[in-house]
Amino acid sequence: MMSPPFAAVILAAGAGTRMKSHLPKVLHEIAGRPMLRLLIEALQPLAPAETILVLGNGMETLAALAGTARIVVQDPPRGTGDAVRLTRAALVERLAPYGPVEDVLVLFGDTPLLRTETLRRLLDERRREPAAAVAVSGMRPADPGPYGRILQNAAGELEAIVEAKDADPAQAAIPLCNGGIMAIDGRYLFELVEAVRANNVQGEFYLTDIVKMARDLGLACRVVEMPADELLGVNSRSDLAAAEAILQDRLRREAMAEGATLIAPETVFLCADTRFGRDVVVEPNVVFGRGVTIGDNVRIRSFSHIEGAAIGAGAIVGPFARLRPGAVLDEAVHIGNFVEVKASRLGAGAKANHLAYLGDSEVGAGSNIGAGTITCNYDGFVKSRTTIGAGAFIGSNTALVAPVTVGDGAIVAAGSVVTRDVPPDALTIGRGRQVDKPGRAAEFRARQEEGKG
Ligand code: UD1
Ligand code: MG
Repeated sequence: MMSPPFAAVILAAGAGTRMKSHLPKVLHEIAGRPMLRLLIEALQPLAPAETILVLGNGMETLAALAGTARIVVQDPPRGTGDAVRLTRAALVERLAPYGPVEDVLVLFGDTPLLRTETLRRLLDERRREPAAAVAVSGMRPADPGPYGRILQNAAGELEAIVEAKDADPAQAAIPLCNGGIMAIDGRYLFELVEAVRANNVQGEFYLTDIVKMARDLGLACRVVEMPADELLGVNSRSDLAAAEAILQDRLRREAMAEGATLIAPETVFLCADTRFGRDVVVEPNVVFGRGVTIGDNVRIRSFSHIEGAAIGAGAIVGPFARLRPGAVLDEAVHIGNFVEVKASRLGAGAKANHLAYLGDSEVGAGSNIGAGTITCNYDGFVKSRTTIGAGAFIGSNTALVAPVTVGDGAIVAAGSVVTRDVPPDALTIGRGRQVDKPGRAAEFRARQEEGKG
């Protein structure tokens, strides 16, 4: 069933002073994604008719994350009520073609852990007959600390929200807190926010004041209890770490639900976009950065660091491997300990099992890269490519000075410095010749002993 159209307003203009950062608060990352982006991604499946993003002055860097959202600048930030009030012109203008919007969903950029289903539930709950003018998200966090407190009457109806800084001791003891997000009947929203006054401890226009004002007009308001771990508000670096822990836990569960074995899930760090195939095994202490996809039956061994990599089915990576952006491993590739791969493709069954650097290169199927092999891809000015054909054997401690090509089936002797192309099926030796001097070691030792005496 199609839901009635609604508009979303995301508030992100706050100074974020408690983060003590030069970066706008909502650009801080959780599981490798800026908070604001996580929130926008949760919102998208609900297809809002319009999304307005309220930003502060000088937050242009955020616009790139806004997608199709319309940006409204709030300068100076004078509170959440003021921020919503400023969206009026944009909302009315942009929504005219859609007719009256039933709901405006107000989200906070610093509350990034919400799931799509939870947002949907808030909208549904507001509309549930008898419909409420305002539906507020409620939660019972372990430490209610700085959150606004929910005031209810004897019948359990929502009466008002009081900010922690304005709360008396009895109000401060209330465990039910304001999660921040609200669904508001579009017919009343602006009438209500226009009337908000800044007569409070912080001298700010509180959006939360609209609840009491709606009640005073005889309108119904409703609190919808939601999981506290989705409504965590990130105000400080400690909150950021708490949000990271919650999201990591969620991502690990999702990975396991998709058929990945995480032997010690609490030691595996995922990115919001990490994608797993079936029967992947991730050993303890592995870190995934952005943009990693893993095929079926892959094993990632301990202490590997992987980002921007596509790992084909049946590959074995690590322990202590580093895959950097642009690493593409085809089926059944083996990458062993202390091997770094960057912007390189390894064909099916290729192996680099120990101590190697493969950068800006192509390694053909079935080739074997010996321990200590280095693609010398950078001369201090430009990066150059190394191409190794299929079925080649690169002996240990080879330096491949790019640009250079090693043909299919070629063998490069251990310790070679390869500066010219190697033809297919050739044996190339590029190192100093070995010289043996019989008896000279014994002579040398004898001389040294004499000298001592
Ligand atoms: C707010 C709520 C509080 C709730 C908590 C949930 C108010 C008055 N208080 O408090 O009841 O328990 O969130 O996390 O709403 N912002 C603007 N412009 C401003 C001020 C803030 O856009 O002038 C944005 C911020 O960037 C932030 C969001 O609004 O994303 C919330 O602001 P914040 O200052 O973090 O409010 P809290 O003190 O957390
Ligand atoms: Mg906050």
